[in-house]
Amino acid sequence: MGIPYHKRTHKCGELRGSDVGEEVRLAGWVHTSRDHGGLVFADLRDHTGLVQLRFNVDHVPGVHEQAQTLHNEDVIVIEGTVVSRGDMVNPKLPTGEVEVEVAAMDVLSRADPLPLQVNDEFEANEDLQLRHRYLHLRRPEMQAIFRLRHRVGRAIREYFHEHGFVEIETPFLTKSTPEGARDYLVPSRIRAGAFYALPQSPQIFKQLLMIAGFDRYAQIVRCFRDEDLRADRQPEFTQLDMEMAFVEREDVMAAVEGCVQRIFKEALDIEIELPLPIMPEQEAMERFGIDRPDTRFGMELQDVTELVREVDFGAFREAIEGGGVVKCLVAKNAEALTRKILDGLAEEVRGIDAAGLPYVKVKSGDDGVTFATGIAKFVEPICGQLCEQVGAEPGDVIFFMPGTFRDVCKYLHYVRTRLATILDVIPKGRWDTLWVVDFPLLDWDEEEERWVSTHHPFTAPLDEDLAMLDSDPGKVRAKAYDLVLNGMEMAGGSIRIHRREVQQKVFSLLGIGPEEAQEKFEFLLEALRFGAPPHGGIAFGFDRWAMMLAGVESLRDVIAFPKTTRAICPLTDAPGTVSQAQLDELSLSVKPPPNKDV
Ligand code: AMO
Repeated sequence: MGIPYHKRTHKCGELRGSDVGEEVRLAGWVHTSRDHGGLVFADLRDHTGLVQLRFNVDHVPGVHEQAQTLHNEDVIVIEGTVVSRGDMVNPKLPTGEVEVEVAAMDVLSRADPLPLQVNDEFEANEDLQLRHRYLHLRRPEMQAIFRLRHRVGRAIREYFHEHGFVEIETPFLTKSTPEGARDYLVPSRIRAGAFYALPQSPQIFKQLLMIAGFDRYAQIVRCFRDEDLRADRQPEFTQLDMEMAFVEREDVMAAVEGCVQRIFKEALDIEIELPLPIMPEQEAMERFGIDRPDTRFGMELQDVTELVREVDFGAFREAIEGGGVVKCLVAKNAEALTRKILDGLAEEVRGIDAAGLPYVKVKSGDDGVTFATGIAKFVEPICGQLCEQVGAEPGDVIFFMPGTFRDVCKYLHYVRTRLATILDVIPKGRWDTLWVVDFPLLDWDEEEERWVSTHHPFTAPLDEDLAMLDSDPGKVRAKAYDLVLNGMEMAGGSIRIHRREVQQKVFSLLGIGPEEAQEKFEFLLEALRFGAPPHGGIAFGFDRWAMMLAGVESLRDVIAFPKTTRAICPLTDAPGTVSQAQLDELSLSVKPPPNKDV
């Protein structure tokens, strides 16, 4: 019988000066080891932290000899005595006042040479991290992230429990749910040739739960969307999904705000002030060029269409004559913007389809201000007026963008975000949370030449805009709300349509004819006939919350086993091929892929 590893007396990170003299039994991973001849030192690590072990050849020669063979990440159990490190305190470790003089050790499992180091300050490249994810997850900073995520999840659950929400699970094997992405499909064996879709969200089910009379539902739930992936998008991700009956917008928003307050308190010990600010979508677009504005810094978009109307600059004239706009933004104290940076930025903007990025530098002139470089010669005639209107002073750079309102928003939002990084203008430690409301109900899809839902087809129109559904659908605003934190969309929801005829009208505007509606949503339309209470809800992107609160840049850092941007899991190598027998069982045959790289 070896040392009873199942009876640990302490965890590694727990030991303190007050434990000196204690006999302890610890187990964990060898974080590092150093052989100093008669003395071997090793740091032992578990999920609570590190403690230094000391193996002395004079006390326990056999164990010391064994210690000389230790490798990083070997799993060991030891027994020993906590001793003081005297003057040799390690201020970097909470256990730094002590070490454990080891009397006995068992090696429970040996580690081969490691493909990536756990104890290294520098992280291995991401492919390797994901391939050996369990090693990467051993890193103390990763452990801290997942504990934070757990605490936030628990705080959310408690909050909703305290407020009368019921957690009810909804199916994963279901029918297509329209959240605007592609579905992940699962073939049915029994109904050959038919497919389940994995839910893009539990949207329809939570509405059915309201119709079923549960009044308040909340669930932390996995959602699946086959869409282009980015740092803030994963193909499977987690929502905190909720729905409430007999509510209007402000009721859902108030419930959410309480939860947001709880999250900040739990994760960062920050008290946030309620109610949160509310900004109409139109205002967000006008001022920031995006419906999820980062309000931590200024550099707002300003409309100068009228002012530049007479300016003899081709791109401005073209935009204005075509019914477009000219907007600008002012980068204050922008001496850091060298020619090289400006050219690079223009190149980036061209990369997202803009024609260019006209700018001028503001200098001190004889009577106040003058323009230099860029398109200075074209706008010089309106220099004084322009600078006054947009608040530009010597040392600033003004960036212009002519085009359709939509394009100008897109490009200047990009420029504003990039400049914020380049000029380092975002105040550290600032958390700007706000609501964006009054989204248009419908969006015109230029390519497909049809209306699409801005949110999803079950979102209710504002009561005062209902009449415009027939006359001017593009003007109808939705009872929708998004929660934005530091420029990231953290949650989105709406009050739903609870009357069948309105739902049918919206379906028909979206080009979903009666037959298609019947086929896809018959169960919902039917349920709306049998007594549907007014209801509404929201879903939080839980991974995004974890990412923001942990201060990391990618969702991959807060998901234990994430996918790459190509939706691949390097650890398991999913997705993989299946056997012919499995395909036969499902009555499927696979065509050769059109492009082998995809
Ligand atoms: P929505 O589609 O806005 O709403 O999604 C809600 C929130 O989920 C997060 N999110 C994602 N996070 C990571 N990876 C993704 N691919 C991803 N897609 C979305 C965002 C977003 O705000 N059923 C509605 C909610 C409702 O109306 O109640 C819905 O799913 O943070």
